[in-house]
Amino acid sequence: MIELTSSSLAGVKCDKKYCNANVRHWQSRLETVPATNRPYMLRAFFIALSESRSLRRIAESSRIGQRTSSRFVAGKEVADAIRAAAAVNQFGAGVSIDNLGENVTNAEEARASAQLYHSLLDEIAARKLTHMGLDVDEKMAYDIVRGLVAKAASMAPKNFVRVDMEGSPYTQRTLDFVHELHRIPENKGCVGAVIQSYMRRAEADIDQLLAEGIRIRLCKGAYKETEEIAYQEKSEVDANYVKLMKILMKSGIYHGLATHDENIIKEAKAFATGENIPRDAFEFQMLHGIRRDLQQGLVKDGWKVRVYIPFGTEWYPYLMRRLAERPANVMFIARNLLRP
Ligand code: FDA
Repeated sequence: MIELTSSSLAGVKCDKKYCNANVRHWQSRLETVPATNRPYMLRAFFIALSESRSLRRIAESSRIGQRTSSRFVAGKEVADAIRAAAAVNQFGAGVSIDNLGENVTNAEEARASAQLYHSLLDEIAARKLTHMGLDVDEKMAYDIVRGLVAKAASMAPKNFVRVDMEGSPYTQRTLDFVHELHRIPENKGCVGAVIQSYMRRAEADIDQLLAEGIRIRLCKGAYKETEEIAYQEKSEVDANYVKLMKILMKSGIYHGLATHDENIIKEAKAFATGENIPRDAFEFQMLHGIRRDLQQGLVKDGWKVRVYIPFGTEWYPYLMRRLAERPANVMFIARNLLRP
């Protein structure tokens, strides 16, 4: 998938003393929290940080920030993404290229993002609706994505645009829009959705998408949602993932199973084997920089794998969500921040 954006953050200097003090503050807070509660607290903490515009301004323009982001982000330029994609292609996996960004603040930024997507569509794309200006001008955002899907559908061979799923305020609008696009006869099979297994509504949404033959990427979900609408326990999110995964695998439509969870991957492989589902009837999807060993092992065993390669200057919210997923990454980042 491809996302494009331009940062308007130039000129903001990182205050290293402030960053270091912040890390130390949170290290000492964590020492006072019972160990069993720490992963949950850290997740909430980093998801809250992902929404902080001021920290984002500081981090994205700082050299230290750029250094730490390189663990999960391919680089700042298109060329960096292409280089990372070539390395992935070399071991036999496909790629989604994503120019990082979301929630643009004006129409010009949204159009610039769309233009880059158009020029990168040969590599093939997914899109966040807020990156196309959903919060700025809903009609404009829809027109932009309509244009991208029309272009993807007109290419030979046809291309595919997946609309990423964001936090719950956008869930219904995103799904409605994917349905609307897919109903246009020329677009059939050229636009897909993402379903998050932590959402209690996920199965009902899947039923509706499958009824129209729409391709789905299943993931666990990366945002902070309330208990009313989303499972909070990992065991519940995982169990729902497995249940939904089996529905998708039996649907006869080509879907993406986006996870690095070895237990779930093992279960998917066993289910495919048991149900005689061919290895090329679905794909595993993973993120750049995470479990490359697993990615390569799956390809070696004949499974289809796609790696999501993010690049660009607006990496901060993406990096914070990756930290939220895996507290062990925190120490990696903290060590980088504190390094002279
Ligand atoms: P889980 O978080 O349970 O982790 C299982 C194991 O995977 C860990 O024990 C660890 O080994 C490894 N791992 C996971 N995350 C790691 C990390 N950050 N660093 C290092 N190791 C890690 N979400 C969303 O809300 N909307 C979307 O559109 C997408 N799109 C998307 C595309 C693709 C291709 C992927 C892979 C993921 C997404 N996601 C997403 C993110 C997704 O919802 C989820 O947050 C992450 O994939 C982490 O969940 P896992 O399934 O990997 O399991």
